[in-house]
Amino acid sequence: MYPQVFSAAKEVDQAFLIILGFSVFILVAVTATMLFFLWRYHHKRHPNAADIKGSVWLEIVWTGLPTIIVLGLFWTGWTSFQAMRTIPEGAMEVQVEGRMWSWLFTYENGKSAPELVVPVNTPIKLNLKARDVIHSFYIPAMRVKWDMVPGMDTEVWFESDKTGEFDIFCAEYCGLKHADMLAVLRVVEQGTFDIWINETKKSGQQGLKLMEEYGCFDCHSMDGSEDVAPTLMNLAGKELLVIRPDGTEAKVTADEAYIKQSIMEPGALLVKDWDDDMPSFAGEMSKDDLDFIAQYLMTGGEGHPGEKLADEEGCLACHTTTGEDDVGPTFKGLFGETRTVTNEAGESKTVKIDEKYLREAITNPSAWIPEGYDDGMPPYDDIDEETLEGLIKYLKSLGKGDG
Ligand code: CUA
Repeated sequence: MYPQVFSAAKEVDQAFLIILGFSVFILVAVTATMLFFLWRYHHKRHPNAADIKGSVWLEIVWTGLPTIIVLGLFWTGWTSFQAMRTIPEGAMEVQVEGRMWSWLFTYENGKSAPELVVPVNTPIKLNLKARDVIHSFYIPAMRVKWDMVPGMDTEVWFESDKTGEFDIFCAEYCGLKHADMLAVLRVVEQGTFDIWINETKKSGQQGLKLMEEYGCFDCHSMDGSEDVAPTLMNLAGKELLVIRPDGTEAKVTADEAYIKQSIMEPGALLVKDWDDDMPSFAGEMSKDDLDFIAQYLMTGGEGHPGEKLADEEGCLACHTTTGEDDVGPTFKGLFGETRTVTNEAGESKTVKIDEKYLREAITNPSAWIPEGYDDGMPPYDDIDEETLEGLIKYLKSLGKGDG
């Protein structure tokens, strides 16, 4: 079984084990009795069948005993169900939105994130809402599983007494990428949570601000130009040839760990053909600042806080930024392109993908469907203007130029 970290989970597990125990016991008892009777009353051993009629005490036992067992099982199930359904007063509330095919968690202060982060030893009340089709919110470790039906708002709660990372699944088939509808529950200490929840929503911009403050742009550019140091444009995921301290060459991928290491020990894996001039920021930069900067560089650098928005809004569950088409068209090169689109009445027209088109495609995607795609995207009709603008700006940056 999954680790048990929620107080009410213990009662759920207990009910499960009691019911399982009884079922196994009855199965074994009935099978053993049946085999014994087969042997004992074989016609070789028992040639003349006895004619037994009526037995009051036997009838009382076979009616009474199962009734007691069934009521007992009901009672264990009922009490654990009650424990799971009685939400403590003052529980911390988080809004959970399920949509094809990702999760969005919105916290009391308005912050939203694609992961569920909660403090340890605190009751958490989750208000569940499905945007498009039926989903089911499932955290196995917390024994929490509840269906989410559009238009029917429901709630669940849990409280974790251990820190750690746990899986969140969608447990109701909801279309093509149901299996990808995953998220992570991070249970952290109260102090860590307080820092996390107060981090600015647009940590991309925070990272940019910090890099200016630390003077990173005195040497590094974000636009591809290289002077005293390599450019940081499109650094994330780049294959780099580096020199180890012993002078040998190695290939590394610029992932978050490499970026962090390069800031803390710039000489350790130096990019080839560059001098070991950069000062180390070990002891200078706080862990949070390092996280912000690494995060900023990992999302592509300047102009791309939009990628984080696209991720949070769930766009990247169906659209790629790499040029490969998925359930929906790729974002790469989309802006400025010409497409044939069809409406419900079957009329077709050719459109140039510009800002006006994208606005409608996001808020009311069913109006005009691009050729070759299904009408599967949920409408983002309640998106705020700032987010919509951010997304369009991001699509523009991935596009062909001015549309
Ligand atoms: Cu959502 Cu399966």
